[in-house]
Amino acid sequence: MKVWHARAHVPEDLREAAEWLRSGRIVAFPTETVYGLGANACDEAAVTRIFRAKGRPSDNPLIVHIADRTQLASVTPSPHQLPAAVQAAMDAFWPGPLTILLPAHPGLAPSVHPGVATVGVRIPRHPLAQALLQLADCPIAAPSANKSGRPSPTQANHVMADLADDIDGIVDGGACSVGLESTVVSIGADAVVILRPGAVTAEALTTAIGLPVTIAGPNADAGAAIASPGLKYRHYAPDAEVQVWQGHPSAVARQLRAVQAELTARGAVVAVIGPTDSGVVSGPLSWTPQRNESYELALGRELYALLRSFDHAGASHILIHAPSPQGFGLAVLNRLERAAHGRVYAVQGNVD
Ligand code: TXA
Ligand code: MG
Repeated sequence: MKVWHARAHVPEDLREAAEWLRSGRIVAFPTETVYGLGANACDEAAVTRIFRAKGRPSDNPLIVHIADRTQLASVTPSPHQLPAAVQAAMDAFWPGPLTILLPAHPGLAPSVHPGVATVGVRIPRHPLAQALLQLADCPIAAPSANKSGRPSPTQANHVMADLADDIDGIVDGGACSVGLESTVVSIGADAVVILRPGAVTAEALTTAIGLPVTIAGPNADAGAAIASPGLKYRHYAPDAEVQVWQGHPSAVARQLRAVQAELTARGAVVAVIGPTDSGVVSGPLSWTPQRNESYELALGRELYALLRSFDHAGASHILIHAPSPQGFGLAVLNRLERAAHGRVYAVQGNVD
């Protein structure tokens, strides 16, 4: 497996990786959300290799990445006839962490969108991803570059840990700035359905598109009929048992200390994640945001790296103070719920 330490403004650094992608090899690369495992989206053999390398269920469709809107014509049959609401979303959020479902072009490899007539499309804003997509000059299918069921990779070494023996190369671009996968939306004539929450929030979508926005989920209504196939699979899970605790901040902080003490007394190795003022003492098996930064943004960016590093350190339990479920916090909470396999608990009480 080849590793490129590329600079976005030096096309020569990326030329080989782009050529490999174009000609059917599979190459991981950074985006602002997570690392993707790329293949030429029109090359069925290359796309099939992605599924094999990841151990991904073959009915789970891939997101296709393009460099700019001129490439839309290679992923959807009538790019100039897309509804105004779709155009508004592209204007507002591309390049960026928003994936939009569009009618799929017949030239795409069938495995890109198995069993569905739509394809998820995104223009990433990471400079290396943009430069690579420009040079490859073809749409690139890229799911997150992890083994299926593992946390998504936000650093090149995460990709290597999962896939070094199964892929042709990796473009090392350091750590991803957002840290959680893109928001996936289906935009209809009179409503927007969020199939997977991400950094483009429900609030931002409502403002930019001017349509009601609903969030698909186990308890969602009408619009949820268009489910994202990926949601039914186990996801984002470390080896340790993850517990998520919600409630008034001081009550949660007290509860986390109590649970940590009890588990530790029974011989467990306990890691703790909480906001700055939650009483979590920083150390090798704990985390609080370092800078003067919102808990949600910092946790979103660091979460997958933390899950991997706590596993590596031998943690048996990871206790997490839940972020508030608004804005980007909703996306963070969505990933935590999956990592926790239902171990999401409400703490009663709000008195200090
Ligand atoms: O940020 C991201 O989206 C990253 C980077 C690499 O771009 N990619 C990513 O891909 O997270 P993946 O394959 O791990 O997640 C794609 C999700 C899956 O849950 C899949 O089911 C859903 O999007 N999806 C893709 N195409 C779809 C379609 N046509 N209809 C419904 N859901 C779709
Ligand atoms: Mg994934």
